[in-house]
Amino acid sequence: MTGPISHSRSEDADLAVAIAAARDRVAQAGPEFGSAEQLRSDLDTWAECDLGRWMLCHGGWNAYWTRYCVDYPRRRAAGASAATNPVEEFFLTRAPAIVATQQRSVIFADLLSDLVGEGVRAMSVPCGAMDELLRLPRADAAAAVIGVDLDPAALSLAAENAAARGLAVGTILALGDAWDLPAAVPECGSVDEYRRHLGVGLDVVTSNGLNIYVAQSDRVRALYASFRSVLRPGGHLVVSALTPPSEWDLTGVDREDLVRARGLMLINDVMWSNLRPAHLTIAQLAEVGLEVVEVHHDARRVFPTFHARAV
Ligand SMILES: C[S@@+](CC[C@H](N)C(=O)[O-])C[C@H]1O[C@@H](n2cnc3c(N)ncnc32)[C@H](O)[C@@H]1O
Repeated sequence: MTGPISHSRSEDADLAVAIAAARDRVAQAGPEFGSAEQLRSDLDTWAECDLGRWMLCHGGWNAYWTRYCVDYPRRRAAGASAATNPVEEFFLTRAPAIVATQQRSVIFADLLSDLVGEGVRAMSVPCGAMDELLRLPRADAAAAVIGVDLDPAALSLAAENAAARGLAVGTILALGDAWDLPAAVPECGSVDEYRRHLGVGLDVVTSNGLNIYVAQSDRVRALYASFRSVLRPGGHLVVSALTPPSEWDLTGVDREDLVRARGLMLINDVMWSNLRPAHLTIAQLAEVGLEVVEVHHDARRVFPTFHARAV
């Protein structure tokens, strides 16, 4: 088992080295990434905020930064102040992929609220802080709420989250690889209980933020097969997948925002760059016995949510 694929590029990355590498990318960037002056200025400003420094070093999001970015509109609506770093504020409020995952989290919450309730066995993988299951109104009635993640820090965050919601007792949190779910080892909850739930078959599996880090189609199919293997027939999979810009609805979008967002992706050399047409995701799911019954789109059709049933 290797480390988490979402943020393990350089676990002890040196910020100065990461900034120097970003400067090289900026120096070689074509005009599609914006003017050299804008790129240099954005890089300098971005390196002044914690999120920027994390992304420059890691090229992706761990559980903490996923929640930080996805929850930004929720925090703002609850009265938190806006990000003071202007590049961070742009990233969190105008970059298409970021706005899309914020909207996607609301779509996940709506769908999962209907699917998770009395007696249901549900798993989130990779769970990160596991807000998508732990915040559900009827999570306390579920027969099992299970999170699997390869990063112990994600499981700690999920454990704190479960405790804060009074769900610590019924929640199983297992350290393991999403491609090998039976081998995951619970850090909260017992191995026997975990295996018993997998043996019976889960009613719901939910997954956001892992397939986008995977370039090879075979690996993506294997990931979906892993989800299928723990679902009972008829069980539900709720999974997101980024689409290529050719599928986005950019009506009314400021072109300068698009160029600037593209520039930021280059600055960070993001690893979540594996975009797939929606029809390909539907086909990949079908190949492993997961039939898509609904596709839910964010406003710009950037990060659709696929609701599939295990056949
Ligand atoms: C972008 S975050 C998404 C977290 C969560 N699904 C959410 O939406 O808040 C990616 C997560 O994948 C986890 N991860 C990366 N590689 C993994 C793997 N091979 N198996 C399980 N989890 C993995 C990371 O530790 C991180 O928590």
